[in-house]
Amino acid sequence: MSRKMLDIAIEEIKEQDKYINEINKLIKDKNLKYHIVTYGCQMNVHDSEKLAGMLETMGYTETTEQSDADLILFNTCCVRENAELRVYGNVGALYPYKQRNPNLIIGICGCMMQQDEVATVITKKFPFVDLIFGTHNLHHFPKLLLQAMDAQQTVVEILDEQGRIVEDVPIKRDLGVSAWTTIMYGCNNYCTYCIVPYVRGRERSRKPSDILDEIRRLADEGYKELTLLGQNVNSYGKDLDIDYYFPNLLRDVNKIDGIERIRFMTSHPKDLTKDLIMAMAESEKVCEHLHLPIQSGSNRILKLMNRRYTREDYLELVNDIRREIPHIAITTDIIVGFPGETEEDFADTLDIVKKVRYDSAFTFMYSIRTGTPAAKMDEQIDQKIKKERLQMLMELQGQISKEINEKFMGSTVDVLVEGLSKNRDDMYTGRNRQNKLVNFMAEHDVTGKIVEVKITQSKTWTLEGIMV
Ligand code: 5AD
Ligand code: SF4
Repeated sequence: MSRKMLDIAIEEIKEQDKYINEINKLIKDKNLKYHIVTYGCQMNVHDSEKLAGMLETMGYTETTEQSDADLILFNTCCVRENAELRVYGNVGALYPYKQRNPNLIIGICGCMMQQDEVATVITKKFPFVDLIFGTHNLHHFPKLLLQAMDAQQTVVEILDEQGRIVEDVPIKRDLGVSAWTTIMYGCNNYCTYCIVPYVRGRERSRKPSDILDEIRRLADEGYKELTLLGQNVNSYGKDLDIDYYFPNLLRDVNKIDGIERIRFMTSHPKDLTKDLIMAMAESEKVCEHLHLPIQSGSNRILKLMNRRYTREDYLELVNDIRREIPHIAITTDIIVGFPGETEEDFADTLDIVKKVRYDSAFTFMYSIRTGTPAAKMDEQIDQKIKKERLQMLMELQGQISKEINEKFMGSTVDVLVEGLSKNRDDMYTGRNRQNKLVNFMAEHDVTGKIVEVKITQSKTWTLEGIMV
């Protein structure tokens, strides 16, 4: 960062601190509560942690009930259309709350707001919304909130510039044992179905020293597990003016005392280098799990998607990874029904799923995103066919996940304990290094610890056991 940009960034933080203090004075002793609803990926979840951090510094406290809140924020996602439709429905449903409590503040932010026209549609359809802002100006939230508290009309601020990286935004992290750190913003890949590069901008990497300082602080606060986040972490550093890339970062994070587990996501297969595989294999804290989206098993569709690898490249990569890290769990994202996908193309997808044998997969029906090249492609696939293909794929993947989990029966795994299970309050829950959810019995509270659990039951998506 140049000196001038650094000065601007420092000024911005000071300015926002000023607004945070002002709001703090305004709402003092009023016991105001906030509720944030988050849609979409972990980047969004992490953005919500930043919003929560700012709100708590202002003096708000969190509530799990919308009906109880004085401020409701929707942090939206635009990757799939049905999520967008849900947002409209859910915003509409807030109207009665607003009628009951005219002081209620309703804000909408996130990727969906970065699309043309969305803000206009919302201000027209739901004039009772107080505040709309995008992803590039999250750090302006205190200023915008202060304006919204006072305004008669909806306050809207959406920037289409490349988001500058503003450090030192307060963050309220959710889980007590596991924290996320964004290492880069944006994406340069322009997969033809995906809206992310248009709403999140070009790739911008945070400085290594900022990331490492943050992680050291997290370790001091007691976090044991850290997930490095970015749309494509494998291209970390390519935009920095020093020779420092993702494998360097992994090796440096691995040296930080107190952090016991390192995870990262997401990885684009075309950027996963041999050096990264070596860094993962050498760094004992890096967990044996890799999320490696394939999207399709057909070379023809991969090309139309602009993924820039073939199924052969992908299979070779998986072989290379498994050679160095034999027990690694591999998970993926798959889209069915991309425009022009034939029965043969889909059969290639099923075939590669059988060859790779993923531990689990996020499977999606292709959904048109206006503004992306695939939206204009001929041969859009019928919804009924998409549903059938999704069903077949999910059944196949379910079977494979079940078979893989059965192999854990009788073994002992290390679990980082997150707390009591939400569904079974007689059991604790956590994840093993391969990111498998493990529910287990324990005789005393082991939250926050890494414990050994003997697996006594395997299900398709979870394992169960007893602490030993
Ligand atoms: N339709 C369906 N799935 C999509 N994804 C991204 N864009 C679309 C779309 N238009 C999926 C991809 C990506 C995941 C986060 O969401 O599989 O990896
Ligand atoms: Fe979207 Fe492709 Fe970038 Fe992932 S790599 S965010 S799918 S454009």
